Amino acid sequence: MIYIILCLILCGVVFYKSTIYKRHRRSLWNKHVAITGGSSGIGKAFAILAAKEGAHVTLLARNVDRLEEARNEIKQNTVTQDQIISKVPVDVSCPEAVENNLLEIEETIGPVYMLVNCAGFAVCGKLEDLSERDIKALVDVNLMGTIYAIRAVLPKFKKRREGIIVMTSSAVGLMGMFGYSVYSACKFALRGLAESLVMELKPYNVTVTLALPPDTDTPGFENENKSKPKETKLMSESGGLYKPEVVAKQLLEDALKGNFFSYVGLESFILTTLCVGMTSVNSVLELLLQICLLGPLRLIGTYYIKNFEKIVAKCFSENHVQEK
Ligand SMILES: NC(=O)c1ccc[n+]([C@@H]2O[C@H](COP(=O)([O-])OP(=O)(O)OC[C@H]3O[C@@H](n4cnc5c(N)ncnc54)[C@H](OP(=O)(O)O)[C@@H]3O)[C@@H](O)[C@H]2O)c1
Repeated sequence: MIYIILCLILCGVVFYKSTIYKRHRRSLWNKHVAITGGSSGIGKAFAILAAKEGAHVTLLARNVDRLEEARNEIKQNTVTQDQIISKVPVDVSCPEAVENNLLEIEETIGPVYMLVNCAGFAVCGKLEDLSERDIKALVDVNLMGTIYAIRAVLPKFKKRREGIIVMTSSAVGLMGMFGYSVYSACKFALRGLAESLVMELKPYNVTVTLALPPDTDTPGFENENKSKPKETKLMSESGGLYKPEVVAKQLLEDALKGNFFSYVGLESFILTTLCVGMTSVNSVLELLLQICLLGPLRLIGTYYIKNFEKIVAKCFSENHVQEK
């Protein structure tokens, strides 16, 4: 009882203090923001917000028509006449193309200040049902595509002693889930990449933010649903569906403040706190909150996992009956 009261008091103090001591928020005014996957979904929503902050925005994606459409939409959200909104048709899984295109665009617009890696996609299904082609593409785009883009800007970030890197992982980058095996492996890998880079880049004043979007209403999500097994659909439906604008707004705030994790919603808060592991600490208050909550949240997490296991068992017996 005393423990619960102490936790509640601490939560109150943390909430009160966090509204007073805001972390320094950097500005994007006149800065160059490059966004892979900026022509659709979360990336496009982020691009619109960056334009509203006065940034020059470069969108990188493959489909030229969608890029042009997105560029026109983003242009309508600029706040000065001088802002440059440009598009670069490129496949992020080709390292040379990513590097050369970024180099070229930097020559005309200026050095990239913020790199947002949003290019990615999911193919669901049991591991043995995924084609080799899908497996390779998932790794090439979600993981390698992020690495290539970061490598293209990193030396310049270090030289200038400034920069912001955003990587887009997922809730399944913190916990495995039925039907996500390879996608989840790629998103887990991004966390390792992000944690290592935080350590490498701290002395250079370059920050890293790892986005953990919940289910978000985007063309990519619509596409993902086509390959989702019944079990995966049942497990994810409790979390709700968020708008890309909401996810992008939180991501922009977290990236500008240099927060490591970016998430929205109570379920993502629970998951992120549970999986905080060895990530660097944002503030003493946040650390105290995690110390108090980790035990009780493990109980809540166990409840979720047990529910998921029940779903798998139920679907298994249903499928078994059908097979008979
Ligand atoms: N939506 C969700 O529920 C959700 C949840 C968790 C995490 N995420 C992650 O969030 C990120 C954005 O997802 P979204 O839902 O906004 O997807 P989306 O609407 O499908 O947008 C994906 C963007 O990535 C680009 N892209 C895909 N493959 C590419 C490649 N090989 N090279 C360059 N660009 C490429 C797409 O353009 P082109 O196809 O024209 O190249 C598009 O601009 C992804 O990393 C996804 O895994 C999404």
